[in-house]
Amino acid sequence: MAIAIALVVLVLGSVLFHIFTPWWLPPLASNWKTMDDTLFITVVITGLFFVVISLFVAYTLWRFRHREGSRAAYEPDNHRLERRLIVITSVGIAALLAPGLWVYADYVSPPSEAMTLEVLGQQWRWRFRFPGPDGQLGGSDARFVSGANPFGLDPSDTRGADDILVDDNEVRLPLNRPVNVVLRSHDVLHDFYVPHFRSRMNIVPGQVSSFWFTPTKAGRYEALCAQLCGVGHPDMRGFVRVEEGAAFDTWLAAQPTFAGLRAAAAAPAAASADPATVGRTLAQSKGCTACHSVDGAPSVGPTWKGLFGKQENLEGGGTVHVDEAFLRTFIRNPQSRDIKGFPNVMPAVPVTDAELDALVAYIQALR
Ligand code: CUA
Repeated sequence: MAIAIALVVLVLGSVLFHIFTPWWLPPLASNWKTMDDTLFITVVITGLFFVVISLFVAYTLWRFRHREGSRAAYEPDNHRLERRLIVITSVGIAALLAPGLWVYADYVSPPSEAMTLEVLGQQWRWRFRFPGPDGQLGGSDARFVSGANPFGLDPSDTRGADDILVDDNEVRLPLNRPVNVVLRSHDVLHDFYVPHFRSRMNIVPGQVSSFWFTPTKAGRYEALCAQLCGVGHPDMRGFVRVEEGAAFDTWLAAQPTFAGLRAAAAAPAAASADPATVGRTLAQSKGCTACHSVDGAPSVGPTWKGLFGKQENLEGGGTVHVDEAFLRTFIRNPQSRDIKGFPNVMPAVPVTDAELDALVAYIQALR
């Protein structure tokens, strides 16, 4: 009897919680209201089954409770009941799945006027690429990845020369213009997800996946990785800023192209800025700060505050002195030493010699 009452309370509590919950989806900012509709259909159907089944169990617990002199009846099968249950559950499951099939078919078929945005996932940061005036993305391959070519673009592919590269965790998009998002990964499975747009897609290494959406509200929205991709997964965040077309065009025109970056890399270094300042920007753009704080806060890796000059213990005994030589070797080959107290998971982020100088200078400045 107590269990029957508990079940009824559970059902009532769940329904009331759903109605009065403070946790709603963030306001919709794209064309995908159909995502909300399918989600609503799913909640209603599964909710209905949950209520009916729980109340039925509560009823049978009460109706067939133990009483003096009562006996259980043996009924091995009941074809009529089985047929009914099969029909009801089949209709329920079809109603759950069918709307999703329609929406998904639409979700991966972008309109012809859609602009292209490439999202590149890597442990544990995002990068973005636009195809440039020719409207075509240049070819890419993991074997082209280097410090000077973090996107891994094929230097011999002429379509890639005018590609616009956003080596940053934040990308901008114009308002009310459909975007075809193509996604690729440098390492493991990731998932690009912007809750406000109700859109997300898995990024499978070695494969290009895609979806499309139209941003309908200006604003800055957080993008997150929705597939567990290693110890830095919760820090794999980015931003999508949606703004008026004119503002977006100005911003896009200021971003470097692949050809422009290659020319700059080939040119002799200009009178350069302070290396520590350059290193600070690099630490952001290379994704170092996803795992290393600069204010002493604990994170996946050691904080950079006061790191330079420190003695670190090694797993299995011994110590190392964190000096310039050690930092250079370690950043180039993070698996070479196993530092005690930290998981040995740092990816080898490709950096040029100049970038390595700047990063070491920045860490040194934080001593
Ligand atoms: Cu990338 Cu989780």
